[in-house]
Amino acid sequence: MRIAILGAGNMADALGTQWLRAGHDVMISGRDLARSTALAQRMTATAALPTDAASSRAGVVAPRPGVALAGTWAEAAGYGEVVMVAVMETGLHDVLRAVEPALRGKPVIDVTNAVSPDAYDVSRSLAELIAELTGGHVVKAFNLCHVDVWRMTPPVFDGRPLAVPLCGDEEHALATARTLVTDLGCTPVYGGGLGRAKLLEATAAFMIGLWIGGADAQAVLPPLERSGAHPTA
Ligand SMILES: NC(=O)c1ccc[n+]([C@@H]2O[C@H](COP(=O)([O-])OP(=O)(O)OC[C@H]3O[C@@H](n4cnc5c(N)ncnc54)[C@H](OP(=O)(O)O)[C@@H]3O)[C@@H](O)[C@H]2O)c1
Repeated sequence: MRIAILGAGNMADALGTQWLRAGHDVMISGRDLARSTALAQRMTATAALPTDAASSRAGVVAPRPGVALAGTWAEAAGYGEVVMVAVMETGLHDVLRAVEPALRGKPVIDVTNAVSPDAYDVSRSLAELIAELTGGHVVKAFNLCHVDVWRMTPPVFDGRPLAVPLCGDEEHALATARTLVTDLGCTPVYGGGLGRAKLLEATAAFMIGLWIGGADAQAVLPPLERSGAHPTA
């Protein structure tokens, strides 16, 4: 798959490198093409190195790693069969204006969070804003965990693969997001339509606030069997 990333920062590096390892090609984009090009070269080189996950899967042939390129915002938006939005909230409007109308009808993965957990507007999600501004089929994903988690190969804790909630309305875009989650060694979890993305963003803001305060945010939730009566799947 050709994956474009609007952004050439930490999230672009972490997730883009994982998808290169899975055999996808990636184009990143930032404000400075020389800096983005240097990062793309490092990502390609890193993705070609062996990982714990690759060496533990004896007998399984790892896919040939993909190649990372760098381009302008508009070049990346045009290149991607799926486009991930990974810019800071402060730059969101400018970047999305620069890519119009290339995202219309495309799967768009939105990983953004509010600039600070205290600055989140609960009335409206960044994901819905991105959908309105681009006409893309937005899926909110990957915003709940720190970038270091997305560098893990794979993100597994106590033997349990990380679950990644997805909020979106369009089935092809959701299927694309599920593939990208699975490529990391994680488990996709459907979190409802795009209207619920504001809850996912609010959850991130709340959890990040706990983590910043030094609390074990994972400990605030009980295991499934203690979560009350609910229909079984
Ligand atoms: N880091 C995390 O742990 C984490 C986890 C989950 C979600 N997120 C979210 O993911 C998004 C990206 O985070 P990140 O950690 O990758 O950030 P980052 O390393 O700071 O990279 C941000 C990207 O946004 C671009 N950018 C920043 N300000 C801009 C502006 N005013 N106009 C245009 N572009 C601008 C930067 O451009 P340049 O390349 O030119 O600098 C860079 O490419 C954010 O919304 C963040 O909240 C981050």
